[in-house]
Amino acid sequence: MKGIVLAGGRATRLRPLTKVTSKQLLPVYNKPMIYYPLNTLIRGGIKEILIIVAPDNAGDFLKLLGSGREFGCKFTYEIQEKAEGLAQAFLIGENFIGNDNVTLILGDNIFVDDFSDSIQNFQSGGRVFAKKVSDNDAKRYGVVEIDDNKKALSIEEKPENPKSNYAVTGLYVYDNSVIQKAKTLKPSDRGELEITDVNNLFLNEGTLDVRFVEGPWFDAGTFESLFEAGQFIRNLENNK
Ligand code: DAU
Repeated sequence: MKGIVLAGGRATRLRPLTKVTSKQLLPVYNKPMIYYPLNTLIRGGIKEILIIVAPDNAGDFLKLLGSGREFGCKFTYEIQEKAEGLAQAFLIGENFIGNDNVTLILGDNIFVDDFSDSIQNFQSGGRVFAKKVSDNDAKRYGVVEIDDNKKALSIEEKPENPKSNYAVTGLYVYDNSVIQKAKTLKPSDRGELEITDVNNLFLNEGTLDVRFVEGPWFDAGTFESLFEAGQFIRNLENNK
């Protein structure tokens, strides 16, 4: 299993904080944001990790994280020239992934759960991780509708009228077919290769598995959630 942290994008929602640096380098209490998703992959037993960054701050990521030796891993870096979508990670990462399976995590997603079982025991297809959110929040995310047996019925990206309040979080486990699937995608109306389209390809094939995030989850991409994530980590550290 290889790992990818997607830490590009322009983070215009966080201006002026992100005018001279990347969102994923901003502090979340006592660590740069990217430490948290990296830690989720490392705890999941992944040793080879590709870090995809935007061109402007690439040197800062290298300076911060280095070769990965300090973390007991091997880090590789690639640049995403433009924010052309989450699913572009599999095109940029094609050589890195090789013939392996891959876990993608978004550089602004903070989890507390230990996913080692879901990552290490993964066999094939696709696996997403859902978290219940408030009715108002669901439309900010990919939303998965599930039946009584917890099987996915549909996945929609930022729907106006969400069919459930299960958000698809920014952690995805796929078999190697994800590379070929990503190659078939067309940009969406917002000009991005959508991860939701990838998930729908697995869903239509009948190979998409939904698991649930038990602990807290933050998508630290807004002022509000960035602040909440920092506060949460502070409490966690102080109660250790
Ligand atoms: O956080 C979970 C959500 O992430 C999912 O529920 C959605 O289905 C998924 O589309 C995504 O939605 P967001 O609106 O949060 O995506 P955003 O554009 O904010 O990008 C998420 C992260 O990925 C962010 O840290 C920036 C980075 N990114 C984004 C794009 C579009 C890149 O590195 N490259 C990109 O091309």
